[in-house]
Amino acid sequence: MSGLFITLEGGEGAGKSTQIRRLAARLEALGQTVVLTREPGGSPYAERVREAILAGQGKPYGPFAEALMFSAARLDHLKQTIRPALARGEIVLCDRFADSTRAYQGALGALNQDELLALERVVVGETRPDLTLILDLPAETGLARADARRGGGELKADRFESENLNFHKRLRKAFQSIAQAEPERCCIIDADRDAEEVEFAIWECIKQKFAQDLNIAPEPVD
Ligand code: TYD
Repeated sequence: MSGLFITLEGGEGAGKSTQIRRLAARLEALGQTVVLTREPGGSPYAERVREAILAGQGKPYGPFAEALMFSAARLDHLKQTIRPALARGEIVLCDRFADSTRAYQGALGALNQDELLALERVVVGETRPDLTLILDLPAETGLARADARRGGGELKADRFESENLNFHKRLRKAFQSIAQAEPERCCIIDADRDAEEVEFAIWECIKQKFAQDLNIAPEPVD
């Protein structure tokens, strides 16, 4: 018995945390057991690495060293949380996963993509997501939302929020390229609209992909 592994990805302010909670509620309403988790983090060790990374402690050592920090956290998260839940036949919903390393660390530049992908293969192994939902919106809109969430400058932007607009534009392109390269696994969701509409689009995608696994009745035809 193997569960389902679903990841949510996107730039800053894309609304992932709202949508992942709504998706969890919908799946639970179908009687599924859902494990809601996130990266970096999702296990006690990985949460400690998260604090260090978001405080900018890896930045002086360059993007590859940061990719290694995210990978160390991911290795533990997979072992402690994700693989055991999948083995129990549960649905793992993960807020960010390996595509964030491809996109964020890749967008910082000066990184060899082949090396990044090799690192991903070693860390992730066979535990690749069954579905990745990529929440897509213009960088400017996402950054404005993230800024509003922080109370318009009252709270300090974290390690990656504080990168410049060009970085966030490269980031959006990087996620779009991942979706183009792996259309079987990825579904792009237009996140530049109301939360309700985004939630609906995500659910349509889930139904298309997993109707059988989730035992969802087909839509009635008039
Ligand atoms: P978080 O507060 O969870 O951001 P968000 O709400 O946007 O998901 O912080 C995670 C940050 O770490 C976010 O800016 C993306 C970045 N990140 C990477 O750069 N590489 C990675 O592999 C992962 C998982 C996250």
